[in-house]
Amino acid sequence: MRNFHDDIQTILVTETELNRITFRIAEEIDRDYAESEHLVLLCILKGSLIFTSDLMKKLTIPSEVDFMKVSSYGSGTVSSGNVNIVLDIMRKDLPDCDILVIEDIVDSGRTLSYLVDYLRLKGAKSVKTCALLDKPSRRVVNFQPDYIGMEIPDEFVVGYGLDYDERYRNLPFVGVLKPEVYEK
Ligand code: IMP
Ligand code: MG
Repeated sequence: MRNFHDDIQTILVTETELNRITFRIAEEIDRDYAESEHLVLLCILKGSLIFTSDLMKKLTIPSEVDFMKVSSYGSGTVSSGNVNIVLDIMRKDLPDCDILVIEDIVDSGRTLSYLVDYLRLKGAKSVKTCALLDKPSRRVVNFQPDYIGMEIPDEFVVGYGLDYDERYRNLPFVGVLKPEVYEK
């Protein structure tokens, strides 16, 4: 049987570090949104599913969870540059909602900057962003998330929700994929 952990070159963020990061961000959100009457964690599918669920378990203030699905990557490791909404946020009470967009990783910055504009135009009361990982050296548009788990170098990573061709999302850590996996 093939063990797909063998496709990982190095572990970049361990389970222990991920736990520490989610605790630290949850504390920041608890503090910043203490007065909010309607915090909505907006999980961007599919990459932020594990990050969102770990984060929401650690919040002590009331919150809701909601979902959007966007696609910017085709298959492979290169973004197409276009952001498509595949599943929209379906709610009529956006003007009452403090939306916190939860994303797995910021690369070019296009996805999150598009989503922030989109949600503001749709009338959300407030919109902020939270990304587990940030690759600042890859930025194409000027964008800075409000909450960041960790900055990483320009390497293609998988695990803890992040995929390569829909695989490796279930790895409990974030790791660098061996280049031969996507070069073959
Ligand atoms: P951006 O719009 O270029 O900032 O891209 C953000 C999206 O690209 C993320 O939500 C991920 O789906 C994907 N992405 C960027 N870098 C990686 C990576 O290293 N591994 C897996 N997905 C990535
Ligand atoms: Mg994503």
